[in-house]
Amino acid sequence: KASPRMRKVMASMIQHIHDFARENEITVDEWMAGVEMINEAGRMSTAVRNEGQLLCDVIGLESLVDDITYKLTSESSSLPTSTAILGPFWRADAPRLEMDSNIVHNIPDGDHTYMHGTVKDFLTDEPIEGAELDVWHTAPNGLYEQQDENQVDFNLRGRFTTGKDGKYSFYCLRPTSYPIPNDGPAGKLLALLDRHPMRPAHIHFIVSAPKYKPIITQIFDRRDKHLTDDAVFAVKDSLVVDFLPRQGDDQADFELQYDFNLATF
Ligand code: DHB
Ligand code: FE
Repeated sequence: KASPRMRKVMASMIQHIHDFARENEITVDEWMAGVEMINEAGRMSTAVRNEGQLLCDVIGLESLVDDITYKLTSESSSLPTSTAILGPFWRADAPRLEMDSNIVHNIPDGDHTYMHGTVKDFLTDEPIEGAELDVWHTAPNGLYEQQDENQVDFNLRGRFTTGKDGKYSFYCLRPTSYPIPNDGPAGKLLALLDRHPMRPAHIHFIVSAPKYKPIITQIFDRRDKHLTDDAVFAVKDSLVVDFLPRQGDDQADFELQYDFNLATF
């Protein structure tokens, strides 16, 4: 049975689609091309390829609903860590690892990095014990592990649980910018709009803890030239970070310190 919310939202969607067609005098051929685009996205989608989401992302829809969902009502001067879109490449059940583990397997080249920080309560600044940090990023070839048969299962992914001090730490790579998959309808749409498919280098996180609102977010490398023209509009100033050189660690040439600040429910 339709909920009042569903009835209202669907009626509004239909209204907007009709207005769009009227305003632009959409013809039968143009509408059919749109239908074919949706069908093609459906045909292309697999367990590791979410073309419908990609289509939404290149028109900025996932970023928009992310902003709407997490709009801050807080008047406080300190804020919880900003959120950013999930994107299509998160996987459940990443390996649970000890602190200081290396999530990089069989990638000798690349900028190996030691990432560390504290998960904290954004109001009290107290460390949060038992917080889970779920991390994932691409290999230097621009592919997530599930897109690339040459990477081991769950490469460049891990889950870490904080102790009393709220601290987390692991080895990863300084990420590389890369194109979103653009051999399908999302790529065609980008081409029609004269837009490139590049995303700035980023690392994804879901940070959660009992009694706290989970944060889905990404951090972005300040040196990346695509910070201002991300194909999926996910960059926020507070999520841009500085990788620093690291000395005396044969596992890493770079270091990144980043704290995550959570808000209670
Ligand atoms: C998208 C997001 C990502 O993080 C990514 O790596 C590729 C694509 C997206 O929003 O479509
Ligand atoms: Fe990504």
